[in-house]
Amino acid sequence: MTAPALWIENLNFCYEAFPALENVNVKIETGEFVGIFGPNGGGKTTLLKLILGLLTPAQGKIHLFGLSSEEGRQWIGYVPQSIHFDRDFPINVEEVVMMGALRKMDWLGRYPLEVKSKARAALEKVGLSHKAKSSFGKLSGGETQRALIARAIIDEPRMLILDEPTANIDVEGQKSVHELLLQLNKTMTILMVTHDLQTIVDKVGKLLCVQRSVTSLQAKELCEHFALGLYHAPLTSQPHFPFKNV
Ligand SMILES: Nc1ncnc2c1ncn2[C@@H]1O[C@H](COP(=O)(O)OP(=O)(O)O)[C@@H](O)[C@H]1O
Ligand SMILES: [Mg+2]
Repeated sequence: MTAPALWIENLNFCYEAFPALENVNVKIETGEFVGIFGPNGGGKTTLLKLILGLLTPAQGKIHLFGLSSEEGRQWIGYVPQSIHFDRDFPINVEEVVMMGALRKMDWLGRYPLEVKSKARAALEKVGLSHKAKSSFGKLSGGETQRALIARAIIDEPRMLILDEPTANIDVEGQKSVHELLLQLNKTMTILMVTHDLQTIVDKVGKLLCVQRSVTSLQAKELCEHFALGLYHAPLTSQPHFPFKNV
């Protein structure tokens, strides 16, 4: 049996004295598409940063692909929650995608030739080849997210982690991002934070509800609750379930 793509064991994390995550246990198998939801301030971004090694657990362990999190992290691509950039900054889409391979840049600021061809392949995967030389600042919301996804997958990661990739983009843009993620899920495990639970519930297999603790549930259980209009009744019987905030 192959090791889980992600295995979090008894994890606790505090910002100074504030406990942000308590007793988290999660197992994600290779190839799963997981939606992560919960109220603002529930700990979703903190959880992603711990997986990425940007924060260190106070207690507990994170394993990636059967390796320690330090070793396994090389297989992760990440699209952060929001990036702030100057829309007039003169950088084209292909150059943004190449930034996903910054560690390969030499001390003169040059990329090896292979990085350019990898950037082109990534742009093709996200359907933006025709925009390679366009100014990044001129892209629509959906195109911007797809370019950032191309940047995250330039090194062909085994897992793609996205923090609210469809927040603040129009419905068409959201649809194009969701379709792209379903396509990418054929070759990589996907973890995506979202507020739009109802749109993704039929696309993902598993959901993680993050509200200081983490509850794991199968999406089809939730679909049944939606279909029956029952989700207030059975799920609010769990004391911390944050449905009214979703
Ligand atoms: N750098 C920080 N220092 C102190 N507290 C933080 C920091 N980042 C987040 N928090 C707190 O940790 C909690 C979880 O935050 P976060 O992981 O950003 O939640 P979410 O992504 O679910 O909105 C919140 O109460 C937030 O205020
Ligand atoms: Mg967040």
